[in-house]
Amino acid sequence: MEQTNPTPVPAWPASAAVVGAGTMGLGIAESLATAGVPVRLAEETAELGRAARERLLARVRGHVAAGLLPPEALDRAGAVEAADAATAARGVDLVIEAVPERLDLKRDVLAAVAAAAPPEAVVATNTSSFPIDDLAAAVARPERFLGTHWFNPPEWTPGVEVIPGAATDPRIVDRVVAFLAAIGKRPAVVRSGPGFVANRIQNALFLEAVACVEEGLASPREVDEIVRGTFGFRLPFFGPFQIADMAGLDVYADVLATLERGLGDPFRVPALLRSLVEGGRIGTKSGAGFYAYTAEEREQLLGERDRRYAALAALLAGLPPITPPPEGEGR
Ligand SMILES: NC(=O)c1ccc[n+]([C@@H]2O[C@H](COP(=O)([O-])OP(=O)(O)OC[C@H]3O[C@@H](n4cnc5c(N)ncnc54)[C@H](O)[C@@H]3O)[C@@H](O)[C@H]2O)c1
Repeated sequence: MEQTNPTPVPAWPASAAVVGAGTMGLGIAESLATAGVPVRLAEETAELGRAARERLLARVRGHVAAGLLPPEALDRAGAVEAADAATAARGVDLVIEAVPERLDLKRDVLAAVAAAAPPEAVVATNTSSFPIDDLAAAVARPERFLGTHWFNPPEWTPGVEVIPGAATDPRIVDRVVAFLAAIGKRPAVVRSGPGFVANRIQNALFLEAVACVEEGLASPREVDEIVRGTFGFRLPFFGPFQIADMAGLDVYADVLATLERGLGDPFRVPALLRSLVEGGRIGTKSGAGFYAYTAEEREQLLGERDRRYAALAALLAGLPPITPPPEGEGR
């Protein structure tokens, strides 16, 4: 695999603390440290912090050895300092909390790091599920607090949901978005609601996948194959709205009407879709759907779609299978 070039060191933060060095915290720390941000990595105690630092170095060493990171990433990771949770936030510009998803624990840790951090510091939580305002209540300066929801594995997954609370200063949101983009992430600002956006959609997909198995339509292997090989094949390039625009919103409305007859209310044609169709906005073929397209943009989009699909098909054809063999096969 090709080595990636190190991204330029972002102007802000001058230093950061990652508190909680498990599955997510280690990868978040790796993302920051290898981008050149001086990082303090904290666990509950300094001793646990030192062990976490060793795990981080081993992980970066592995990524360098595999050719996934350039050799200088190891020097950058070597500059990471170990700390305990109580002192990690002292003097840093940014704290990212990634302790286990327990409300009482998160509140305690956030209160402690917000108290130890300088007044101008930004404090972020990596919560996957708690409303941001429930956690904001624990910190001294809620206007400088927000959610940054990374995805596993954080060092490779580009998307990060940025979730302001009711009190978050919009300039802080802009600053965090700019920072994440500067280290090569693809942040998107979303409002706080159950599961935010990604987990809500991901779980809707998962529930339907399980239902297809429970109803005997397909085995888990067949469902995985269909998802990966059909609409999932498009997802590295397009989200659901652009995909719907290219398919035709009128077609979507007709298909949903059949699904609603068979599967009930969750599949009813949404009012937003109905109003677009009634207004003649049926996607790329009409010049507008969820997005608007000039004739030239439409041609460019469809040409680029074909180019990317062909490139992805070629990439996938050259990779070995990753799904485990059926029970008893190949073991
Ligand atoms: N695992 C995922 O796929 C995933 C994805 C997105 C978000 N999240 C969220 O990220 C957060 C962390 O999840 P995880 O999967 O990394 O959990 P984890 O259990 O792997 O890691 C949590 C770490 O926090 C440490 N910790 C516990 N108490 C602490 C304290 N008082 N001070 C400092 N460190 C302490 C633990 O020792 C552990 O190393 C959770 O809020 C979770 O919901 C997880």
